[in-house]
Amino acid sequence: MTRAVGIAGLGTAVPPKVLTNKEIEKTVDTSDEWITSRTGIKERRIAEDHVSTSDLAFEAAHEALVSTNMKPEEVDLIIVATVSPDMIFPSTACFTQEKLGAHKAAAFDLGAGCSGFIYALAAGSQMIATGLYDNALIIGAEVMSKQLNWKDRNTCILFGDAAGAAVIKPVEEGKGFLSFYLGADGGGADLLSLPGGGTKHPATHETVDKGLHYIQMAGSEVFKFAVRIMGDASLEVLKRAGLSPEEVDLLIPHQANTRIVDAAVKRLGLDKNKVCVNVDRYGNTSAASIPVALYESFEQGRIKPGDNIVMVGFGAGLTWGSTVLRWA
Ligand code: ACO
Repeated sequence: MTRAVGIAGLGTAVPPKVLTNKEIEKTVDTSDEWITSRTGIKERRIAEDHVSTSDLAFEAAHEALVSTNMKPEEVDLIIVATVSPDMIFPSTACFTQEKLGAHKAAAFDLGAGCSGFIYALAAGSQMIATGLYDNALIIGAEVMSKQLNWKDRNTCILFGDAAGAAVIKPVEEGKGFLSFYLGADGGGADLLSLPGGGTKHPATHETVDKGLHYIQMAGSEVFKFAVRIMGDASLEVLKRAGLSPEEVDLLIPHQANTRIVDAAVKRLGLDKNKVCVNVDRYGNTSAASIPVALYESFEQGRIKPGDNIVMVGFGAGLTWGSTVLRWA
């Protein structure tokens, strides 16, 4: 059995607290001008101390269920894509399931860096296509701010907190996800990581003194990889769907850096009004960035039935993922 699967409802959660570049200027040696020109970021959202990733995941998922007219008890599966889980275990998906009261749902986390939402869409949609489940909540959720060294100007300016959720379900044949392309290059694992607290570097006073519990990144290496892969992954997934770049109605790229997005747009030869960019307001929210951008595009009336939407991301791993979605 295979059946077409698409998105039936969307939700987001962004913390109310805004942290501007101007405010960061006061704590590290950087400037609004540097951050804006190198990344396109102007501000980001920061979760309050008591808020964890599953709180944002819950809020986004709840909105997605309401918009789909679904009750939590009807949810078959919850996948949370995240690199900032509540704990190493149990999964953030299990905390989210409990908060929702989605007691029938199977629940697990998926770690593929900022590509996590696309990976999770691929995993969940295959389980529905083959008949294992009839619906799934796919969530990208992050509280990156608690994993950043706020004294490291190379990383602290880049990230923000958010969650985005999608309910996926069977849709009319010829609509929904037309193709996926997922990839990984573990050879680049050290370029972007949070090394402390796992089994390789269990948490000790020494690991904390060395700052191994913070995100570490070789920014310019990741940048080069991202510029190449965003174009490659978009073209490959379009090929798999039998479409050309001219047939793309909307590109939703991972929101890391406007220079990376611009390179992908140029490679595809797309008009700028066919691209969603909100990195200026949220920074890089890792696995949450694509669902939040999709949600905002929908709310702004930029998506109509039959549109071909390309979503593409890259991230820690290194990983990449892309999909073509024909809106149902
Ligand atoms: N303010 C001022 N100067 C800074 C700052 C800052 N915030 N950060 C770095 N610099 C300095 C550096 O120290 C360096 O100085 P030096 O030449 O004296 O050593 C100089 O600026 C240039 O640094 P570069 O790293 O070459 O700057 P670049 O143009 O590459 O921009 C950036 C850096 C924005 C990080 C870029 O490389 C980038 O966006 N990389 C991709 C990062 C990314 O997307 N990561 C997330 C992946 S997704 C995931 O899975 C979480």
